[in-house]
Amino acid sequence: MAEDGDRKPREVKDHFLFEIATEVAHRVGGIYSVIKSKAPVTANEYRDRYTLIGPLNHQSAAVEVEPVEPTNPELAASIQAMRDRGIGILYGRWLIEGAPRVLLFDTKTAYGFLNEWKADLWNVASIPSPDNDEETSEAIVFGYLVAWFLGEFVCREKKRAVIAHFHEWLAGVALPLCKKRRIDVTTIFTTHATLLGRYLCAGSVDFYNNLQFFDVDAEAGKRGIYHRYCIERASAHSCDVFTTVSHITAYESEHLLKRKPDGVLPNGLNVTKFAAMHEFQNLHQQSKEKLHDFVRGHFYGHYDFDPENTLYFFTAGRYEFRNKGVDMFIESLARLNHRLKAANSKTTVVAFIIMPAQTTSLTVEALKGQAVIKSLRDTVDTIEKNIGRRIFERSLKWHEGEPMPDDKDIMTTQDRVLLRRRLFAMKRHSLPPIVTHNMINDSEDPILNQIRRVQLFNHPSDRVKIIFHPEFLSSANPVLPLDYDDFVRGTHLGVFSSYYEPWGYTPAECTVMGVPSITTNLSGFGCYMEELIENSSDYGIYIVDRRMKAVDESVNQLTSYMEEFTQKSRRQRINQRNRTERLSDLLDWKRMGMEYVKARQLALRRAYPTSFVGDDDDEDFIPGVEQKVARPFSVPGSPRDRTGMMTPGDFASLQEGHESLSTEDYVAWKLPEEEDPEEYPFPL
Ligand code: UDP
Ligand code: G6P
Ligand code: GLC
Repeated sequence: MAEDGDRKPREVKDHFLFEIATEVAHRVGGIYSVIKSKAPVTANEYRDRYTLIGPLNHQSAAVEVEPVEPTNPELAASIQAMRDRGIGILYGRWLIEGAPRVLLFDTKTAYGFLNEWKADLWNVASIPSPDNDEETSEAIVFGYLVAWFLGEFVCREKKRAVIAHFHEWLAGVALPLCKKRRIDVTTIFTTHATLLGRYLCAGSVDFYNNLQFFDVDAEAGKRGIYHRYCIERASAHSCDVFTTVSHITAYESEHLLKRKPDGVLPNGLNVTKFAAMHEFQNLHQQSKEKLHDFVRGHFYGHYDFDPENTLYFFTAGRYEFRNKGVDMFIESLARLNHRLKAANSKTTVVAFIIMPAQTTSLTVEALKGQAVIKSLRDTVDTIEKNIGRRIFERSLKWHEGEPMPDDKDIMTTQDRVLLRRRLFAMKRHSLPPIVTHNMINDSEDPILNQIRRVQLFNHPSDRVKIIFHPEFLSSANPVLPLDYDDFVRGTHLGVFSSYYEPWGYTPAECTVMGVPSITTNLSGFGCYMEELIENSSDYGIYIVDRRMKAVDESVNQLTSYMEEFTQKSRRQRINQRNRTERLSDLLDWKRMGMEYVKARQLALRRAYPTSFVGDDDDEDFIPGVEQKVARPFSVPGSPRDRTGMMTPGDFASLQEGHESLSTEDYVAWKLPEEEDPEEYPFPL
């Protein structure tokens, strides 16, 4: 923790906030979702005193950022000082809701300093940096630029306090620098995972039962990530306030980073409220039609299942085979296939796996499927128009007593030939493909190998079909032209059987779109929902026990959840979606954002205690610091939510006088017992 004595008092009222992350205006995974979805509430609270800082990614910034001139004179002068030294900087408005200001550093313009900075990092923080790790070099250059900028800024802005909030180790290098250089800012570090956690879980280690026992330096060394681990650990130890995204990751951080977090900052979402209550149901139907179109093309020649009896399941995220539980998902799909076949089920499940892998292009087969179906549709449209024209002509000439126009005359030989040609083009001698792209490493790809092992090959007799789309979704994709959100809306069930998942945005996003999902009690989101809602499966949140059960039992539990889902009637699915969507408020930043407010207040108190002398010691409110994030409100119909407990952070401290979370807070984290769940109306 930084020494308070080094800092001169600053005004905490109307302080500045910089939030630093590598995913600012550049999507990689969930951290982008955190800052983007939080932008409206934070920008509303801070207005132009809020700036996000990230490395410049030319491609995404060109689309997402509109350059503007800085209006704050201290900020403008700080940027200019760095530009004068040759640093490329893009300052602008991020074109998302809330339109926050962003400051993006072109790290490539600072590589001339790399060796000097690497040597300095070793001298001031004993952090080594090998030559061949580009990601670490990027983190170092970015970290030095951020520390440089903060130093420039606080030299100019001398009155008001400045909070710098860093996300994840990749953005953390500036933390030890701020401390060593005694830059007069107060800092928060939020880790969204731990490096060792990710690496250890990806191998075959019994992670959760051995957390206390790992020799962290040795484990990091064995995996070639010791230098990265040093950055992460230094970040956690040199910030004023250390936080993470869930209790499970707080526990992990205590053991692997050797500092107990001061609190938990759970992830929220920017919940869209539609004017019409059931608009999300209509959107489901519309997006589902688009999925039907894709599936017709993908399965051409073998399209012998009924769209009315087809359910769409999916999993999505960064490609982490074991951590994201794809291994378990595929195994469970195979068991589900077996059970559905044995029961002679009429339902077909089409399961999508959306995970970016290295590919060269879409396959000819995937493109052909969509083209063949498009030609068939065009041909049928032409024939339909011709038939319509002929019926009309015949009808005009019809007299009483004559036979009605005969359908044999209506469809001409020419029409038949046209149609025949299309039908022959649709003949296929191979099974519909599993993967939509040409993979760079097809024979060693873990997902494909697992599919091969369980033999889910899209055979006509299979009731479970699989499609692996190894690229994030986009409406510009010629084969599956849907943005991720629209795709999710069209599906029936998201399956995220993660083994390592500090939070897990994907099931949370499903929830606010009214799509039921399966998660696990090893994900931050799963634990949060499990504690908050009794019988969460009724609300479309199924939680697989991967903590206490053996792997095979967990696989069976997942299979049973999916099987149970296939047995629901349409009406039951519609009801369940209504209930799922009603949980949205639990995940809204308007509620979750409270923990960020508390963390910032704690950071200010720790750095500038004298600025508070004489103030009321109200524990979670600093007089003079505006608190615009609304107090959480009660959420109708969310069963356990009438206890006065607001967010997971309420179980942590994030308050002065409580040095850090107590282990009890997150290990034995439990909401008080509560009254009977309210009955739901099931409006259609
Ligand atoms: N995602 C996306 N496009 C896709 C699939 C996923 O934008 O085609 C996003 C998804 O919306 C989610 C993020 O990727 O916000 C994954 O975040 P999560 O917290 O689940 O996992 P992480 O990648 O951070 O471990
Ligand atoms: C929404 C639409 C209904 C449609 C239903 C299909 O609720 O508003 O018109 O019938 O979705 O649900 P399903 O679960 O079968 O995709
Ligand atoms: C990390 C975690 C993910 C979490 C995200 C946002 O990337 O893997 O579980 O949702 O950060 O906090």
